Amino acid sequence: MAALTEPLPGTADLWEPEVLEWTGVEEAARAVFSLYGYGEVRTPVFERTDVFVRAIGDETDVVQKEMYTFQDRGGRSLTLRPEGTAGVIRAIAHRGLSPGEQVRVYYLGPMFRGERPAAGRRRQFHQVGVESVGSCLPQDDAEAIAMLVHYLEVIGIRGGRVLLNSRGLPEDRGPVGAALRRHFQPHLDALCADCRRRFETNVWRMLDCKEPACREIAERAPAMVDLLGTESRAFFAAVLGALDDLGVAYEIAPRLVRGLDYYVHTVFEVVHSGLGAQDALAGGGRYRISLPGGKTPVDGVGFAAGVERLLMARESLGVRQPPQPGADAYIVALGNEAVGAALILARDLRRATPGFRVLADYSARSMKAQMRTANRIGVPFTLILGETELAEGKVTCRDMRGAEQHTVSRDAVVAWLRQRR
Ligand code: HAM
Repeated sequence: MAALTEPLPGTADLWEPEVLEWTGVEEAARAVFSLYGYGEVRTPVFERTDVFVRAIGDETDVVQKEMYTFQDRGGRSLTLRPEGTAGVIRAIAHRGLSPGEQVRVYYLGPMFRGERPAAGRRRQFHQVGVESVGSCLPQDDAEAIAMLVHYLEVIGIRGGRVLLNSRGLPEDRGPVGAALRRHFQPHLDALCADCRRRFETNVWRMLDCKEPACREIAERAPAMVDLLGTESRAFFAAVLGALDDLGVAYEIAPRLVRGLDYYVHTVFEVVHSGLGAQDALAGGGRYRISLPGGKTPVDGVGFAAGVERLLMARESLGVRQPPQPGADAYIVALGNEAVGAALILARDLRRATPGFRVLADYSARSMKAQMRTANRIGVPFTLILGETELAEGKVTCRDMRGAEQHTVSRDAVVAWLRQRR
């Protein structure tokens, strides 16, 4: 039996220095997305179940098999968010969106899906995502894809492949669905039970079944773009044209449908060979989500990238944040009186040198023991307060990298540190 202190399967504790890798990719997301006019939004981690079912679609694996749904004490059905788009659209609808208004938001945070844990597949995972809502033009789609590519470049991920397809408009669903059914009909007996059900309820989902037998048949299905109406084909061509103008490389993936049913027109994924079987770093597309109360549906385009997968890809490429010691300076206090002075010196240094991380040792242990701790933390500077220093109002400052050492007056410590930083 797993130890009771172990995190649940598919979840993880995170510690430094790994946390620093996370904050690195999160900060880069903030920096890049804001260049494109996106601002941060934070929506609740749980919502009414209906928010997800309506947006994602009740014929999807996410809704049917993967949501963490529970009843609260009032008997309401609530769900831990399996993805970010549905909650963001609910929040925008709640705040109100005037006709013609565009809202560009990004989000970072945990999502929850009850999937079988594997490398790159978690039950609590984390996304950085964006939504450009109220935008209806193919250029918006191309810009979102270009921004994702820009972001991956900034965080050092090379070698991602952009896969692209179109799901067309709702009015294309009839003819496309009929063509796909004609393709799958003769093979129904060879398909998995899920696909036989999908044949009736949602034939698009048959295109991305993972079962080898189904896959083989799906690979021979007609390309979706060829089945779309004129308007959808023109929209897709305009997205491709804008991507060409921007110099973004892409591959058409004729059977890419994505696992969420809100998509119309453009769908895309970025895959990376450093990830193994779960090779999607990010996915997204254009969507049309209907709102409760019969309001006009909301159009938008967005994507989300899995933070765990971004970090796996970076690791496969040998990209790492430079390692950081746990502090920049360590105050060694010798004797009880020095301990009080160390407390005050630490406070003053933190305030006088912003960004400079200071730890002080209040144990009154021997010099050797305190220096051992300083070495273990890897601090570049130690500041020694002994009896003589206290009596003279001085501090002995040691640069641990070159073992240079000076005894300077207490007021000169900040200048000494700044010169050597
Ligand atoms: P998604 O493809 O379901 O799209 O998820 C986006 C990304 O989240 C995936 O490419 C993957 O990197 C990561 N991810 C998904 N599930 C897991 C998991 N179980 N463990 C680890 N990582 C995972 C969406 O969620 C859409 N909301 C994206 C979007 C935004 N479309 C339009 N706007």
